Amino acid sequence: MKSIFKHLLTAFITCILVVACGQSNTPIATTTTAPVNTTGNAPIPIGIGVAQTSNVALLGQEQVIGAKIAEQFFNQKGGVNGTPIKLFFQDTSGDEQGAINAFNALINQDKVVGIVGPTLSQHAFSADPIAERAKVPVLAPSNTAKGIPQIGEYISRVSAPVAVVAPNAVKAALKINPNIKKVAVFYAQNDAFSKSETGTFQETVKAQGLDLVTVQKFQTTDTDFQTQATNTINLKPELVIISGLAADGGNLVKQLRELGYKGLIIGGNGLNTSNLLPVCKALCDGILIAQAYSPEHPNEINKEFRRIYTEQNKKEPPQFSAQAFTGVQVFVEALKAVDGKTKISTLSLPQLRTDLNKAILAGKYDTPLGEISFTPEGEIIQKEFYVAQISMEPGGSNGKFKFLK
Ligand code: ALA
Repeated sequence: MKSIFKHLLTAFITCILVVACGQSNTPIATTTTAPVNTTGNAPIPIGIGVAQTSNVALLGQEQVIGAKIAEQFFNQKGGVNGTPIKLFFQDTSGDEQGAINAFNALINQDKVVGIVGPTLSQHAFSADPIAERAKVPVLAPSNTAKGIPQIGEYISRVSAPVAVVAPNAVKAALKINPNIKKVAVFYAQNDAFSKSETGTFQETVKAQGLDLVTVQKFQTTDTDFQTQATNTINLKPELVIISGLAADGGNLVKQLRELGYKGLIIGGNGLNTSNLLPVCKALCDGILIAQAYSPEHPNEINKEFRRIYTEQNKKEPPQFSAQAFTGVQVFVEALKAVDGKTKISTLSLPQLRTDLNKAILAGKYDTPLGEISFTPEGEIIQKEFYVAQISMEPGGSNGKFKFLK
């Protein structure tokens, strides 16, 4: 009697842990040639390979939140024509090998139909070729370096590239202070995205007729920026532009301010997270950061995404969460398009992955980022971009990203 009760209890707990009672959480077909098994409404596995640990998790954690909101949201709306999706998470951690391991596990062990990830461009250049060789579609949720979609046919991105996003911050800085003349640039030389982004920033500075007075290099693992900061301050710039990640970038801002720098600061996409605020605290005040997402975007899906995110997190949704949500959304909608032509349950996993990649590139999506589509190469086509300025409460580590008009 006791064991029957225990069995029923276990079954009940399992039932509430899966997407919804009555649905099996067994992944779909695991062989390479058999039809994809969606019998019994088994969920369709989608991989999320982002940084859940290490310094990169300051960005990756926001992606996990966005992806999980999307899983619940789209399953409540009927998933893929009645079949739920199930996200499989593999932590890339903070280096290339971690990203490679995560992608291999998602492809070969979890048998996912496609992957949203990784967090960094630096990792994408190592891990994406694995997905490309296995013919598994990848949607890059935050890889903004030049050359990401060009890694291969199966690699696309929902994260607009540095060339499109970064110049907006320089223009915003000039609007705030039209007297800016001297500009100092910092970048993390061990990070592919930072190198790419600083290239765009430096070109923009020159194109605006400004003087690039110094280019300072650092590592994403650095914590001491005293020398570079002092050398820079001696050159009296009116604008400092930083391309790095959140922990190093936040420390650099802090030390520049502590050493007396008073001019404007632009942070690149790697600093675009409220996880930066506990690093530079009150000294984060005023940092300008270009945005590929606005919580105010007026379409219905963003209103719903914003409502769910805000209820759960008691703050406005950030770009990294919105882009991860969008990655999952594109997979769901492209899967629906595939299923509309040929029932997914009749397709082998390799066939489904190939058809899915074609459907991704052919589609148009109304997302929290606004309406997006892709070039044949997998580059995002997106219309709206913004700039936000960090506004800190005096003395504390609470602050807000205020969107500039
Ligand atoms: N946008 C950053 C990158 O591409 C996070 O690595």
